[in-house]
Amino acid sequence: MKTRNKSKLKKLILTAVVAANCLSVTPAFAEEISSDYTSIWSRQQAEKVMPTDKTTAPKIDLDFDLVAPDQWVWDTWPLQNRDGSMAIVNGYRVAFALVAPRSLGWGERHTEARIGMFYSKNGKDWTYAGIPYDYNKALGHMQWAGTAMLDDNGKVHLFYTATGEKTNWDNNGWDKRAVQRIAKTTFDIHTDKNGVHLTNEGKHQVILEADGKYYETLAQANSPIITAFRDPFFFQDPNTGKDYIIFEGQAGSDRDFIKPENIGDEEYRKTHSVPAGAELYNGNIGIAEVLDKDVTKLKLLPPLLESVGTNHQMERPHMVVNGDDYYLFTISHTFTYAPGLTGPDGVYGFVGKGLFGSHKPMNESGLVIANPKESPYQAYSWMVLPDQQVISFINEPKDENGNVKFGGTFAPTLKVKLNGETSEVVKEGKAGEIKPFGANR
Ligand code: FRU
Repeated sequence: MKTRNKSKLKKLILTAVVAANCLSVTPAFAEEISSDYTSIWSRQQAEKVMPTDKTTAPKIDLDFDLVAPDQWVWDTWPLQNRDGSMAIVNGYRVAFALVAPRSLGWGERHTEARIGMFYSKNGKDWTYAGIPYDYNKALGHMQWAGTAMLDDNGKVHLFYTATGEKTNWDNNGWDKRAVQRIAKTTFDIHTDKNGVHLTNEGKHQVILEADGKYYETLAQANSPIITAFRDPFFFQDPNTGKDYIIFEGQAGSDRDFIKPENIGDEEYRKTHSVPAGAELYNGNIGIAEVLDKDVTKLKLLPPLLESVGTNHQMERPHMVVNGDDYYLFTISHTFTYAPGLTGPDGVYGFVGKGLFGSHKPMNESGLVIANPKESPYQAYSWMVLPDQQVISFINEPKDENGNVKFGGTFAPTLKVKLNGETSEVVKEGKAGEIKPFGANR
């Protein structure tokens, strides 16, 4: 473990607290204090990760259909209105997903990823409508996950990760060189008897880049696993009406070391040591405030949550608001746990009162949905929608002889029941099914 004395921020807060007891708090102090909201997923909490009946998804039937037979299809998200409800355009539901030709190997798809569009009238039978943008205009060598928002004027805002540069692309060791930036473009949307069409493609622009302080840059990255500044999720806080982008990041220079709180409480720390190398697992969930209606001007804020010393990846983070409870969900892998810890590929959740409230791990450990033990990689990239339907894709399920069948298509939709700090997987829907859902509230 890197030893470093208390961070400057902590010192400032201490000074502020002392000062606040004697004087009135100046705005500068107030700002420093309120920026220290970052919740922690500690090693002590993650050590409790243990799938149960309530957190294990049913086994996926290997006899599945392909939603787009010539494409690998993975990370998926529906078109949502600004308030989080499902957009329904003249009776059509729309979804986006990462796609790559099946002629490529399963493992080669990440470097050829594009964003494809799907539409459906009943939310069960989806038509693949191809890639809605001009690849030459899009940013990045590949386009990774995102979200999509339909605004009140009928504009579709597609948020995505622009990964790598088109010029001088080299597949060799790309994961150490491909910069990730958060980008967007816009479209008009219309429908006719031939389905849904996105037209009038707007400019593609970068809206967020890692700052090095709260969020690690590529140059700072120092882990065996790829760094992250990706997977934007557009979120409107129903209680304030303010817009945000939530994303997957890594701790920047400000917090890139294991603090006692990253390990656990005092009692726990007396009896637990941290294996060497754990500090290289420095995941966080970032947030940026949106400053304009077009979502082109943003301000990076300190992360909502960090898993420094616990887990390297908190991918595709997203928020679901249920009454007073703000549920922050993310997906993570077995291989991204820091040394000395383990857990399944699954959905992890943290609940707090308010967006910047302190977020505690669901079910004490954080685990909300795990793949079943017999098929530990059967699905991935779950997204919990505001009414708690959970979509995902079929990844690498195993048959009864232990043979893997590559998926690359929509998985059966699950439903998770949220009850304060606990949850339960309650029901399985049809593959790719998305029922209309309302706003976060
Ligand atoms: C999750 C993920 C995302 C990324 C995409 C790239 O499945 O790792 O974080 O955007 O896959 O393929």
